[in-house]
Amino acid sequence: MTIAKKVADSMEKSSWIRRMFEEGEELRKKVGPENVYDFTLGNPIMEPPAEFQQRLLEVLEQGDCHGYTGPLGWEEVRRSIAAHYKVRTGLPFTMDNIIMTCGAAGGFNSVLTAILDPGDEVVIFVPYFAEYLFYIDNANGVAVKVDTDREFGIDVAALEKALSPKTKAVAINSPNNPTGRVYDEKMLAEMARLLEAKQKEYGHEIYLLSDEPYRAIVYNGCRVPEISNVYENSIVMTSHSKDLGLAGERIGNIALRPGIAEYEELREAIAFTTRALGFKSAPATMQRVVSTLQDSTVDIAAYERKRNMLCEGLEKLGFKFHKPEGAFYLFPQTPIPDDVKFVKELQKECILTVPGSGFGRPGHIRISYCVEDDTIVRSMPGFEKIARRMKIPGQAGTPRSK
Ligand SMILES: Cc1ncc(COP(=O)(O)O)c(C=O)c1O
Repeated sequence: MTIAKKVADSMEKSSWIRRMFEEGEELRKKVGPENVYDFTLGNPIMEPPAEFQQRLLEVLEQGDCHGYTGPLGWEEVRRSIAAHYKVRTGLPFTMDNIIMTCGAAGGFNSVLTAILDPGDEVVIFVPYFAEYLFYIDNANGVAVKVDTDREFGIDVAALEKALSPKTKAVAINSPNNPTGRVYDEKMLAEMARLLEAKQKEYGHEIYLLSDEPYRAIVYNGCRVPEISNVYENSIVMTSHSKDLGLAGERIGNIALRPGIAEYEELREAIAFTTRALGFKSAPATMQRVVSTLQDSTVDIAAYERKRNMLCEGLEKLGFKFHKPEGAFYLFPQTPIPDDVKFVKELQKECILTVPGSGFGRPGHIRISYCVEDDTIVRSMPGFEKIARRMKIPGQAGTPRSK
């Protein structure tokens, strides 16, 4: 057999994604793409802000922006990004704390490969971004899944039960994909206290890996706490895929907190794994471009408007959900326990969503509202039909929002 068994198994487990895509394509051919309401993708539809183009032209005109940059990235770029982390956290970040990456995903793989020995455990919270399972497996680690609470927040008691002497890292993602939940300071501080105690008990570091590509996408003035201010052994992995709408440009960074254990060794190891994994260096032109766009974003108000339209529409129909504080996903409960069946019911109304099972939490669906306003508006009659057919108790349902 040509294909490695591990890869074939993973492909089989995630084959539902391909099936859904194929079914969506068939539907588009049958009824016309404009009549299909596709809420499955997290691919930003908004163009980058105007200053992006201007900056891109500037960088191209200056030249010297197409060669290898070394596995850590251009020094002046890392210096500029470190200055932003310094302002945000009040901590003495320097360019030595920053490594430029091929998106958050590239950074995550470089970090895991650098720190995991075979069999080391990485805790992830359910529901989780499905790719984490592959990233951890790529690095020969073991994913340990911990349930979140009713509002998708960190359940510190459940986390405590899942920790073991083999725990090397705990991964968090806030604002969260697929729930839109933002973890508050109190919850993070409680988790940090637990991890500090466990580090002492086990006699080794537990790294907190914070996956933050949605940090800037928050609503109603919500603030995402700086993980570096909460826990010493923390590593941020982020990107500009979502906040600047540059997903296809593969540009992000890793920030090692000043004072993190084995800092020099970590940086060298991540530089090495970035090379060994074949990334070589983050895209050179984009490094220069984003270095001066750290305070720019796409139009966050537009995402907030889409969130409100979707939440108001589904709330009226009796759907139950946690109203997202950030990112661009809604994760409502399904009115029947079988989320895959419910996704198929929605498909009959040309509404495409992703079953919660794909994120480890059946009984839910993920709706990505990274779509045109019109898609949300025109999908509502379909949602209404389903709500009637499934006898969701209309106005009686209250959302699980705070
Ligand atoms: C939670 C989460 N982490 C990481 C990624 C990967 O992002 P990037 O494009 O920065 O690699 C995504 C992309 O959707 C995501 O949702």
